[in-house]
Amino acid sequence: MENIQQPKRVFSGVQPSGVLTIGNYLGAIKNWKKFEADEFDSIYCVVDMHAITVRQVPAELRRRTYEILALYIACGLDPQKNTMFVQSHVPAHAELSWILNCYTMFGELSRMTQFKDKSQKNASNVNAGLFDYPVLMASDILLYQTAIVPVGSDQKQHIELARDIAMRFNQVYGDVFTIPEGYMEKNGTKIMSLQEPTKKMSKSDENENASVGILDERDAIMRKFKRAVTDSDTVVRFADGKDGINNLMTIYSCFTGKSMSEIESEFEGKGYGDFKLAVGETVADGLQPVRERFNQLMADKAYLESIMKEGAEKANYFANKTLSKVYKKVGFVPKIR
Ligand code: TYM
Repeated sequence: MENIQQPKRVFSGVQPSGVLTIGNYLGAIKNWKKFEADEFDSIYCVVDMHAITVRQVPAELRRRTYEILALYIACGLDPQKNTMFVQSHVPAHAELSWILNCYTMFGELSRMTQFKDKSQKNASNVNAGLFDYPVLMASDILLYQTAIVPVGSDQKQHIELARDIAMRFNQVYGDVFTIPEGYMEKNGTKIMSLQEPTKKMSKSDENENASVGILDERDAIMRKFKRAVTDSDTVVRFADGKDGINNLMTIYSCFTGKSMSEIESEFEGKGYGDFKLAVGETVADGLQPVRERFNQLMADKAYLESIMKEGAEKANYFANKTLSKVYKKVGFVPKIR
């Protein structure tokens, strides 16, 4: 018999919780295009349920949910080749999350570094959702029998936990879940703040010069790179202790495809000023088509809603298949129809 290989499931998501940065772009969304090839079947989610672990203004959350979907498409993802949907449109995420809570240990969740960071930043609102967040993320991934999860390096620990939960469940009930693997590019999995280059660039940073938004105007991009923190050396060189320059070289490399040594040769004999200008221009040029396409898409809400609707239908279908299996395995009586 002919050996027909099933396409590998790819799943990832972004929170609609702030203005997306070039960190989100280079660490995640930009890399998803390659999974449009026939051997993959990709699903991308706008994870609105994750976003409310931190207080959100409802009208902003709603607008940002449309924006993230528009950005997925503006960054080059083809809605015909990928399933895109909004997390809260698929109830199985919350349902599986409850079950998996009962297979996740308190100690495991206590060790999550993102929980520790976020609970420090939101000291007045350390809610149970913030603590439980990685279980919802594991549910997102496991519901779709995901093999590959393309993300930035800050999500590594959450993916490890999703694997552990899946293996623990499978050990008790047989092969219910595919064991997922994180996928990270060599470069750009951790873009750093332009102001404090030992810290991750984050969409929630209060210093607006610290991060570059995917939708920033050219002037703002140029200004931010011009002000980027570097060091007292003058040579464009990738080396230990040169965090600011290393970060700028990484960003430049991601946008141009050039290697670090090619970049070093290109800027030999030139100062940091010239280098920063070149990085700014390259980033602004690279993001311009994204911004233009984004604006067109945001003007067509009906189109975005048609994608959300179709995406949710497909996602519900896949997710419910896994959820029914899980319900059966744990011993729930099937719904009486
Ligand atoms: P979120 O919304 O914080 O970030 C979305 C994606 O962007 C990556 N990223 C970065 N990459 C490089 N450099 C940076 N400075 C940078 N900042 C963010 C993140 O690694 C991520 O890939 N928990 C997830 C969302 C999520 C998810 C999922 C992801 C929920 N369920 C299931 C994958 C699968 C998060 O908060 O990402």
